Amino acid sequence: MKYLPSDTRYNIMKYNRCGKSGLMLPAISLGLWHNFGGIDALENARAMIYKAFDMGITHFDLANNYGPPPGSAEHTFGRILHGDLRSYRDELIISTKAGWDMWPGPYGNWGSRKYLIASLDQSLHRMGLDYVDIFYHHRPDPETPLEETLAALDYIVRSGKALYVGISQYNHEQTRNAARMLRKMGTPCLIHQPKYSMFERWIEKHLLDVLESEGIGSIVFSPLAQGMLTNKYLDGIPNGSRASKLGTYLPKEAITENKIGKVRQLQALAEHRGQSLAQMAIAWAGRHKQVTSVLIGASKPEQIEEIVNGIAKSDFTNDELEAIDDIAK
Ligand SMILES: NC(=O)c1ccc[n+]([C@@H]2O[C@H](COP(=O)([O-])OP(=O)(O)OC[C@H]3O[C@@H](n4cnc5c(N)ncnc54)[C@H](OP(=O)(O)O)[C@@H]3O)[C@@H](O)[C@H]2O)c1
Repeated sequence: MKYLPSDTRYNIMKYNRCGKSGLMLPAISLGLWHNFGGIDALENARAMIYKAFDMGITHFDLANNYGPPPGSAEHTFGRILHGDLRSYRDELIISTKAGWDMWPGPYGNWGSRKYLIASLDQSLHRMGLDYVDIFYHHRPDPETPLEETLAALDYIVRSGKALYVGISQYNHEQTRNAARMLRKMGTPCLIHQPKYSMFERWIEKHLLDVLESEGIGSIVFSPLAQGMLTNKYLDGIPNGSRASKLGTYLPKEAITENKIGKVRQLQALAEHRGQSLAQMAIAWAGRHKQVTSVLIGASKPEQIEEIVNGIAKSDFTNDELEAIDDIAK
């Protein structure tokens, strides 16, 4: 049966301005790092994209290497997009990235002009797109001159292959330098993509201030600490969960008694607020004015539904924020 997006898709979601740009992003975005690869069921991937769009998630985040195998998440997304979503391209913000190991030899990794431009061409081909909305440099490259990487991003925008550019995992000094250089080139840095959750606080120290002063937005990834900040692991490691799978970045050993003890206390706090821990963790990660969007992952459509339904309760009292710090820091 043909998919028709929900008529109410713009009723629940909030949209935030990305830094000082003209672009609005949904308060919650969906990433395709896991569960959209060639090894995953296409029907489930499609159901998650449809669910997300029905709930006002207009932004889908990819990278050249998402899979497995690398590249297959872009391929899956392209197949879904060119089905019943085809006529909604202008309602979508699609991003991809390059910066991690993608193909053999010296030109398939890091931050050279050669790699970034070739990689984006491959990504566009896999997704069947003429352009992406946002193209990121996925991680800083200590060897390539920053000017070269940023000039490649500037070229990519000028050539029409991306509308905006961003950076990921850059520290605050690298971010300030990149923002200033890109501005001089005439291609402002739209957005930064850092890791941020109750268990991962590095952006609080300096990065948020730099984002504010440079007028850059942010989209924070792994806000659920890859699923740990939910009720999922309270009674062990369920089959099919990320920690149960081989080759993920959430090894079983990361689910320690100490962590689960904290999660239990956070869960009690969330219940007291009348929401699930997943909902509270998302609201918490999105509470700074510099955070434009909170970038979740999912393995089922119901997870997306639960999280977006939590958007109505996103305010925190100072006591609640202090209690979260005491437990999680
Ligand atoms: N820029 C970068 O370097 C970088 C790095 C990593 C990720 N990212 C981006 O960030 C996105 C999100 O990262 P992430 O997947 O680690 O985010 P996350 O939201 O912290 O974790 C997602 C996982 O949490 C679990 N989950 C989600 N909703 C749930 C719910 N309502 N109840 C119970 N469990 C729930 C699911 O685990 P199960 O699979 O176990 O069900 C899901 O796969 C990625 O897709 C990618 O786009 C970027």
